[in-house]
Amino acid sequence: MANYDIGIDLGTTSIIIYVVGKGIVSKEPSVVAVNKKTDSVLAIGQKAYEMAGKTPAHIVVERPLQNGVISDIDMTEEIVKYFIKKVSSSYVVKPKVAICVPSAVTNVEARAAVNAALSAGARKTFLVEEPIAAALGSGVDISLPRGRMVVDIGGGTADIAVISLNDVVDSTSVKCAGTQFDDRIIQYVRLNHKVLIGEKTAERLKKEIGSVKKVMEDTEMEIKGRSLETGLPVKITVTSDEFIPTLNEFAMTLVVAVKGVLEKTPPELVGDILEDGILLTGGGSLIKGLPELISGETGVQCRVSENPIDCVAIGTGMALDLIADGYSLSYSSDY
Ligand SMILES: Nc1ncnc2c1ncn2[C@@H]1O[C@H](COP(=O)(O)OP(=O)(O)OP(=O)(O)O)[C@@H](O)[C@H]1O
Ligand SMILES: [Mg+2]
Repeated sequence: MANYDIGIDLGTTSIIIYVVGKGIVSKEPSVVAVNKKTDSVLAIGQKAYEMAGKTPAHIVVERPLQNGVISDIDMTEEIVKYFIKKVSSSYVVKPKVAICVPSAVTNVEARAAVNAALSAGARKTFLVEEPIAAALGSGVDISLPRGRMVVDIGGGTADIAVISLNDVVDSTSVKCAGTQFDDRIIQYVRLNHKVLIGEKTAERLKKEIGSVKKVMEDTEMEIKGRSLETGLPVKITVTSDEFIPTLNEFAMTLVVAVKGVLEKTPPELVGDILEDGILLTGGGSLIKGLPELISGETGVQCRVSENPIDCVAIGTGMALDLIADGYSLSYSSDY
């Protein structure tokens, strides 16, 4: 019988679903639109995201997962149930579900995600740690007695981990990831151009021209916002180079954290990392100049995963495969 087990990357920016044997079947923003008058959920995922910033006062678009933690357990449960039902409605056999939760979640929060999966019809649920999933989904053989360093730069947090023998040897988490880079861009434009721009504009700017080190020709971009001087809508032209100092300064928080983990890592494992390089995953690893900056500052080569955004969902699904093969993974929790 075909295997329809599910791997879920419950990210703070997006929730990505991988079905074993099928691949990635769903990728939507992890947001919920709530009607505050009736306390009812109006939309989840892409539909809710499209409403952001365009709703009447009583409708609020919320991110129940923020800064790498679950800030609203009930809403997170709604999200998990909605997506499991969406992708498994045609199943005859109840699926096994593996969930990758943000690294800093508490046991209570993780259990909430597990309960949501069970109440959405999962037969069994497992939790997978994000660095493990990121490495597996990037094709790294983590079963070897060999030190691997994974730096996952997501929406809310950057997680730095050293893995060996299927387990996390050491890890740390810093709030230096996608959303905080967007915030830096908003702040910069407000201070230097006296214009207020929205989150979506800042994110687009970051993806198109943002860089933490000079790695491309200076490029212009036109953005729209509201003038803080006149209060009216304006269009301004910004350049990629002008953002480098502020984004570079912020990215150094991540560099310092990577150095800190390297300093604490046992020498044998550091030797392996020096040979293999650092694996960068997560959407934030696509910020221009970041691999070059980390390599330059640490002296260790960086490689960006072939699937930086999808690898966590893929790896979460792969972990299920290994569990099914009778392989015992110390990071899986069978509730
Ligand atoms: N091409 C790109 N250039 C720069 N940043 C990007 C690019 N593509 C995506 N991002 C950023 O990556 C972030 C999302 O990354 P990802 O999908 O890995 O997060 P997540 O897994 O939901 O979050 P977390 O792991 O923190 O829970 C967003 O801030 C997004 O703006
Ligand atoms: Mg992630």
